[in-house]
Amino acid sequence: MFIPVITIDGPSGSGKGTISRLLANRLGWHYLDSGALYRLLACAAQRDGVALDDVDGLVGLAARIHAEFRITADGEESVLLDGEPVTGELRTEQSGNAASEIAALPAVRAALLDWQRRYREPPGLVADGRDMGTVVFPDAALKIFLTASPEERANRRYKQLKDMGKSVSLAEIMTDVRARDARDRSRAASPLAPAEDARLLDNSTLGIEETVARVLDYARSIF
Ligand code: DC
Repeated sequence: MFIPVITIDGPSGSGKGTISRLLANRLGWHYLDSGALYRLLACAAQRDGVALDDVDGLVGLAARIHAEFRITADGEESVLLDGEPVTGELRTEQSGNAASEIAALPAVRAALLDWQRRYREPPGLVADGRDMGTVVFPDAALKIFLTASPEERANRRYKQLKDMGKSVSLAEIMTDVRARDARDRSRAASPLAPAEDARLLDNSTLGIEETVARVLDYARSIF
């Protein structure tokens, strides 16, 4: 059976997560947050004392861990790793950086491939990540590469962390955004890059609703 996929790839802070969730919700489709799988594996490694460069240890862990994504009654996301809630831990800068580090290992990427593809279920899937359109779902009918300027992305992250009550420095976040971008774009295994047939969408000056509306317009012209 043909199951349609929309891929939303792009750098951190481009709004992929928010846009993809809203899209999936509006279309009544499933949602894959592939970054969360890399973050989960990094958290599990730290929990079990597996080093972030221990390829065999990480691949073994990927086969063993059990993850559950739930939406609580008040609409919040809740993620369980082997039954333990890890939602807060998953969203920290530390987890993001650790995820980016293990994501550079080809064997780790290969170990997560089937896990990601299993999310493709009727009536459709919105997949958010870095290589959704290039590697994981190359046959997706609609591929979006979502970007925003590094300054705008650092600003968004700064506001997000402040809203969570964290004391953070914008300069540090800017350094972090640039370092993570450089690592995600320059790695040999599935570097962050638009698929040849992706539509580029820069949302530096677009609001969330405007961005969702653009993608829905594209989707309506295809599906
Ligand atoms: O989207 P995110 O910030 O949750 O992703 C965390 C890290 O995981 C990111 O720095 C790069 C990596 N990642 C990846 O390499 N491929 C994906 N499909 C998703 C995330």
